Amino acid sequence: MYKNRVVTHLSTKTLQKSLGYRHFEINSRLCYFKPASSKSEKTFAKEISYSLNQKEKSISPKFFYDIKGSAIFDEICELPEYYLTRTETELLKKIGNDLIQFISKDIRLVELGSGSAVKTRLLLDVLTSIQNKIEYFPIDISDILQESSQKLLEDYENLSITGIIDSYEGGLEFVEQYDDKPNLIAFLGSSFGNFTPELGFAFLHKISSIMKKNDLFFLGLDLVKDKKVLEKAYDDPKGITANFNLNVLSRINDELSADFDLSQFVHHAIYNEKKQRIEMYLRSLEKQTVEIKKADLLLDIEKDELIHTEHSHKYSIPQIENILRRAGFRLEKIWQDTNKPYALFLASKH
Ligand code: AVJ
Repeated sequence: MYKNRVVTHLSTKTLQKSLGYRHFEINSRLCYFKPASSKSEKTFAKEISYSLNQKEKSISPKFFYDIKGSAIFDEICELPEYYLTRTETELLKKIGNDLIQFISKDIRLVELGSGSAVKTRLLLDVLTSIQNKIEYFPIDISDILQESSQKLLEDYENLSITGIIDSYEGGLEFVEQYDDKPNLIAFLGSSFGNFTPELGFAFLHKISSIMKKNDLFFLGLDLVKDKKVLEKAYDDPKGITANFNLNVLSRINDELSADFDLSQFVHHAIYNEKKQRIEMYLRSLEKQTVEIKKADLLLDIEKDELIHTEHSHKYSIPQIENILRRAGFRLEKIWQDTNKPYALFLASKH
């Protein structure tokens, strides 16, 4: 059993106090840190009330991932049209041996947006091949992290997990203050595409600035490609992506005491070639008023008005090389799939 969970920088108590986390020790191999519940609830209500009060209404895509939304996302990943997950998984399987050359014996895996942690296994396999004990710090906004962690522990005897149920930024700050061990920070699945290029740059800069000399950053990204292929991936004939999009409204209904009528909204996804991004919206079928009690909001929505829910930016390899360099990284290696253009980037701190 791996019992010595050494916290050199901050004690658990200090982490709880200064960063507002609650600590849940499940067993000797598994614990979670979660923001005090009042903190996350307030943030949800506050952010929703702000973003829906703007002239162009929006809901942040990070709110897609409640338990139900995470499950629908897993369904999306299985769709023939949604090539991203399959392509990345194939790529990860192929490069395992290659990746080992860059990885130190004591590096731990930190994963941003771990979700159901399927691809995580491929990275844990790589670590297992060179380490006796492996450590995994998943960072995910969703409680799904608890389920996926349990499953991982069943399959990896030598694994211990410290889960951080929080936003990326919160989780990264947590990791930075936790200890001095080297980290392999993985950000897979093209989730980086959710940022606008400007905010994406700022986020990468934040990552590089908290990285130590021996840390590595591993980024998986969907690349620009044919508009038709892209639009099919985000508007599938079975309507799974539509369910995923609409589910955010039922989450708001449940958690913020709102009365969105889901039958009065439809999924809308288009590829904006100039901005190199998929844009996803919920379109209102009628003029309507929605009340969101816990956000203190009475919302007037016009017929055909769009509520923006997601951007998925697509990049070219030179664009990413450039952005990584400017954000303070040194590129170590790029692996790519040329059939359904997709790439994995390994970088260290410059
Ligand atoms: C999880 C952000 C990578 O943008 O492709 C899938 C989310 N949205 N289908 C993506 C998503 C609609 C996905 N990411």
